[in-house]
Amino acid sequence: MAIREIVKYPDPILKQACLPVTAVTGETARLIRDMVDTMYAAPGVGLAANQLGVRQRIIVVDIDYENPGKNLLKLINPEIRRAEGEVFWEEGCLSVVDFTAEVKRAARVQVVGLDDQEREVKVDADALLSVALQHEIDHLDGKLFSDRISRLKRDLYTRRLKKLLRAGKPVRENPRLMI
Ligand code: NI
Repeated sequence: MAIREIVKYPDPILKQACLPVTAVTGETARLIRDMVDTMYAAPGVGLAANQLGVRQRIIVVDIDYENPGKNLLKLINPEIRRAEGEVFWEEGCLSVVDFTAEVKRAARVQVVGLDDQEREVKVDADALLSVALQHEIDHLDGKLFSDRISRLKRDLYTRRLKKLLRAGKPVRENPRLMI
């Protein structure tokens, strides 16, 4: 079990797209285990590899926090195959401290990818699972939930964060479910 440090905004790696995984190796398996451990320890309901500083298209998601592990998803090269409807969801992110915002997402998605045994996985998701999958796949494309809100709100947050960091004040972690 290894818990790694989660990269925080404004680290530039969060803005870079991740690269497709071409071979699942022992290192991939170790990375995925660390991602799962780090997500549960945070605690959060999802994590993307670049949040641990690794630019590979891998995500882990587990929204069932009462039964951790039972519905854990480990997805390599995930892709949204279908998206429909829309939903507004209050999101937070383990990489964006002290900030949540309502984001518009597709209400339902179908995501395909490979699991850590390289078996094809297909997930039909709605509600929080749908939001979490879209949020994590955004991470892989170098996009944060704060890129999906108005520029005004984003600028306000950036200014507040800079001020906090300059003052050396500890920033409060988000109290809600982090994705
Ligand atoms: Ni996030």
